[in-house]
Amino acid sequence: MTSPDLPAELRAALNARLEGLSRNDAAGRAAIISQTYREGGGSGTIRTETDALAYALARMPATYAAVVASLNALTEIRPDFAPASLLDVGAGPGTATWAASQTFTSLRGFTLLDANGALRTLAQELFQRTARLHDTSYQLGQARALLDKADPADLVVASYMIGELGESERAALTDALWSKARDTLLAVEPGTPAGYARIIALRARLIAAGAHVTAPCPHDGACPLVTPDWCHFSQRLQRSRAHKQVKGADAPFEDERFAYVALSRARVENRPSRVLAQPDAGKVEVAAKLCTPEGVVVTKVPRRAKADYARARRWRWGDATG
Ligand SMILES: C[S@@+](CC[C@H](N)C(=O)[O-])C[C@H]1O[C@@H](n2cnc3c(N)ncnc32)[C@H](O)[C@@H]1O
Repeated sequence: MTSPDLPAELRAALNARLEGLSRNDAAGRAAIISQTYREGGGSGTIRTETDALAYALARMPATYAAVVASLNALTEIRPDFAPASLLDVGAGPGTATWAASQTFTSLRGFTLLDANGALRTLAQELFQRTARLHDTSYQLGQARALLDKADPADLVVASYMIGELGESERAALTDALWSKARDTLLAVEPGTPAGYARIIALRARLIAAGAHVTAPCPHDGACPLVTPDWCHFSQRLQRSRAHKQVKGADAPFEDERFAYVALSRARVENRPSRVLAQPDAGKVEVAAKLCTPEGVVVTKVPRRAKADYARARRWRWGDATG
């Protein structure tokens, strides 16, 4: 399992970039960028070096944690998956590239695509901190046009990117992402009902095109959750001092809510059920909401079923039960 916290060299690189910059300025820029995100404005306000750094300090730890959690779920189900190439679409400061490079020692080729020049400059500076990512190819432009020309990769990732597209663009981008995935496509979005809806739309479209879910779902059928319920997960991450300052927050950690789907070309047999909420672990029984191949169930594991109860007590929201 890869740690959800930023690797030490990335944390150090971000902190070093913050030296000589007013933290209040960075915090002010981060607040404006976050506000724009909340209003659905996307990353369009990230124009300068300071904006890019403020965005990375405020958001990169959380989006990194969400991508790592999704990749951990994928590798738990497919421990032998060893991609050699990565295509990171809407790469921003390189978050998913860092996460994938930490998860897969097999990765050799890293290609990143993004329309934002300030984020590309920052990503390239951060990559200089690790020999592993010295030779990345980071192409600047619109994802659709760049994808047309891109080589296929074993693993394609779109992290917190699809929500930035207009609704009319999403279907075409979904097809383009899948067309470049030699093995697996991972899409990660905020864990809101809207983020989940985007994941579900992508999932349904690509299953119809022959994809199979590797995680989180134990099946390729329609999602059994009914509105207002939605499938999402939560990953805790530690906040560094700089992270706290930029966010103007005191708590030493935060919980990132995210939704994701990993789709592969080959079907995985015997996919385990998934824990959909933090289980209620009492003295008499553990009650857990699970997504199973047969639908959503609340399973109750009594204490008298000793081995099962001990196993169920270790379940956490997002875990595979198998
Ligand atoms: C919220 S950021 C996420 C960055 C990174 N993937 C992460 O998880 O931290 C979304 C990124 O998608 C990029 N993006 C959005 N729409 C795009 C498009 N049509 N073509 C290329 N890049 C796009 C933005 O420039 C931005 O860097």
